[in-house]
Amino acid sequence: MLTLKQKLSEIVSAAFEKCGYDAALGIVTVSNREDLCQFQCNGALAAAKQYRKNPIAIAGEVCALLENEEIFGKVSFAPPGFINMDVSDVYLAKYSFNMLEDSRLLLPKAENPSTIVIDYGGPNVAKPLHIGHLRTAIIGEALKRLAKYLGHNVIGDVHLGDWGLQMGLIIAGLEDKCPDLCYFDENYTGEYPSDAPVTIDELNTLYPAASARSKEDEEFKKVAQKATYDLQNGRRGYVALWKKFLEISVSDLKKSYAKLNVEFDKWLGESDSAPYVDDMIASLKEQGLAYLSDGALIVDVALEDDKEEIPPIIISKSDGSQLYGTTDIATIIQRVRDFNPNEIWYVVDNRQALHFKQVFRATRRAKFVGDDVKLYHIGFGTMNGKDGKPYKTRDGGVMRLSDLIETVSSAAFAKMNESEVMRDISDEEKKLEAEKVGIAALKFGDLINQPAKDYVFDMDRFLASEGKTGPYLQYCVVRISSVLNKANEQGLEVGEILPPSSLSERALILKLASVGDVLNRAFDEKAPTGICEILFDIAGAFNRFYHENKILTEEDTARRASWLSLLKLTHKMMSTLLDILAIDIPDHM
Ligand code: ARG
Repeated sequence: MLTLKQKLSEIVSAAFEKCGYDAALGIVTVSNREDLCQFQCNGALAAAKQYRKNPIAIAGEVCALLENEEIFGKVSFAPPGFINMDVSDVYLAKYSFNMLEDSRLLLPKAENPSTIVIDYGGPNVAKPLHIGHLRTAIIGEALKRLAKYLGHNVIGDVHLGDWGLQMGLIIAGLEDKCPDLCYFDENYTGEYPSDAPVTIDELNTLYPAASARSKEDEEFKKVAQKATYDLQNGRRGYVALWKKFLEISVSDLKKSYAKLNVEFDKWLGESDSAPYVDDMIASLKEQGLAYLSDGALIVDVALEDDKEEIPPIIISKSDGSQLYGTTDIATIIQRVRDFNPNEIWYVVDNRQALHFKQVFRATRRAKFVGDDVKLYHIGFGTMNGKDGKPYKTRDGGVMRLSDLIETVSSAAFAKMNESEVMRDISDEEKKLEAEKVGIAALKFGDLINQPAKDYVFDMDRFLASEGKTGPYLQYCVVRISSVLNKANEQGLEVGEILPPSSLSERALILKLASVGDVLNRAFDEKAPTGICEILFDIAGAFNRFYHENKILTEEDTARRASWLSLLKLTHKMMSTLLDILAIDIPDHM
C-alpha cells in the first residue's frame, strides 16, 4: 500500500521520465511552507546539474505534464526550480473516506516482512523493576508494536537476567539463613517441595543483602561464586531452588509489566543460552579466535580504524566462570537456531554500547550469524532528575518502578479530583483512570525524546493538559468520543467525506494522510519519536477544526455526516497510534 506521498512521488517520477530525465528525481516531500503548497519536489534542481540545463525550464516541462493529473488541485513552479503541488480537495475527500473504510486505515504493510527479534526489558531475577528498566520497556514495547503493525514477524524477548553471579549470591544468602533446607543437602535424593521456600518480598531483600555482603566479605563472595559455578554445572538442589526463584520472580514481573501494557512473546533468559556455550567456545578455539590471556579466554575485536580502544571480549575467566558477553554471544546462536531472524534489535542503555560492540564483532568474526543478519544496539539515554543526574529517590536511592508509577498516578488522581467532569465518578474508577493518565504521562514524556538522548523527568510538565503530553492526547481522543457518542444518541448519521470546506479541515486531512510515512520513518529510524510528534500535530489540527465548526448543530446534513466521519477517522487514527505506543485511553477525563 503506497502512502499518499509515495503515490505522488510515483506520478512525478513518471513525469520526469517522460520528459527524458531520471525517474529518481521525482521524489516528493511534504512542503516545508504549508502556506505555499502541500507538497513539493526539488528534483529539477538536481536535474539541472545532471543535464546541464536551466532548472526552471525543467520544472516547467514537468509541471506541464503534471497539470493533466487529476490528483492535483494545483501545480506550479517557482524559481530557482521548485515544483509545488496541492492535491485536489476531491481527491483528499476520497482518500480520507478510503482510510476510514479500510481496517488498517490505508497504513503501510511490509511487502517483504522481516523476522525481527527485539531484546528488551532485561529485568533480573530477584531484583524488583526500578527506573533503570523503564526506558527499555517503554521504547522496546513501542518498537515491537510498530514493527508488528507494519506486518513484520516480531519476537519480543524479555531476556531475563537469570544466570550470573546474582543467582549464586541469592543461593549463598539463603543457605546462610536457612542451611537446613533440603535444597542444600547434597545427599538429598527425594523430590523437592512444590511450595517456594521464600516469598517474593523475601527474595527481593535477599539479593541486595547478599550483594552488599559480598563486597565486604571475601569469604562469602567465594561461596557465592562457587554456588554460581555449581548451579551452572547442574547441582540438583541448586537447580531446583533456582527454578523456584525464577517462578516467583517471573510471576511478579509479569504483573509489573502488565501495568505498563508491556507484553513479551518470549520469556527466555540468559540461562537459555547455556546449552550453546560449550560448542560456542569450542568453535571460537577451533577457528583460532579465542586465546588465553592471564588465564582468561578472550577474543580480540579491535579494528584498525577504531577511533577508541575496543578491548578484547572475555569469554571465560580463569576460574571457568562465564560472563555477560558469553551469554549474549550464545544467545545469538540460540536465536539464529530457533527463530532464524533477519534482524536482532537490542533496546538497552547507552552505557552498554561497548559491550554490544564487542559482542557483535566477536559474533561476526566467528560467523555465528550470516552476513545478511542485522544486529542493532538501540541505545537509550537516562531519565534524569531536575539536577541533570540520573533520577533518584529523595534519599538518593534507586527508585522502584512501582513507586514511580504510584507517584505519577496519584498526582494524576489529585488533578482529576479538581475536575468537574469527574465529579460523579467513584474514587475506585477514578483511581484506575488516573493510573492510565499517569502512565501515559510517563510514557509520552519518554517517547517524545529521541531514544539516544537523556531527558529530565518533570512530573508537572508530563501531566500538563496542554502541550506535548500524554494526557493532552488522551483528552483529545476522549473528547472526540464524547462528540461521537452524542451524535449517536441524537441519531445523527455518518456519511461520505466531502471535499474539505475550510483550511483547518484540509489541514486535518493532510495530517491524517501523512501518518503512513511517519510510521515508515519511525521504523527505519527505530525511534517512536515521530509517532509522538504526528499525534500532537493531529490533535492540534483537530482542535482548530473543531473550534471553527459546530458539528452537531450543522444544518447541512451531508456536511454534518461528512464531519462526523472525519471525527471518526481522527479517533481511529489517534487510537491506533496510541496503541502502538502502548498508551491506554481512559473512558472519562
Ligand atoms: N539484564 C541486563 C541488565 O540489567 C540487561 C539485559 C540486556 N540484554 C542483553 N541481551 N544483554 O543490565
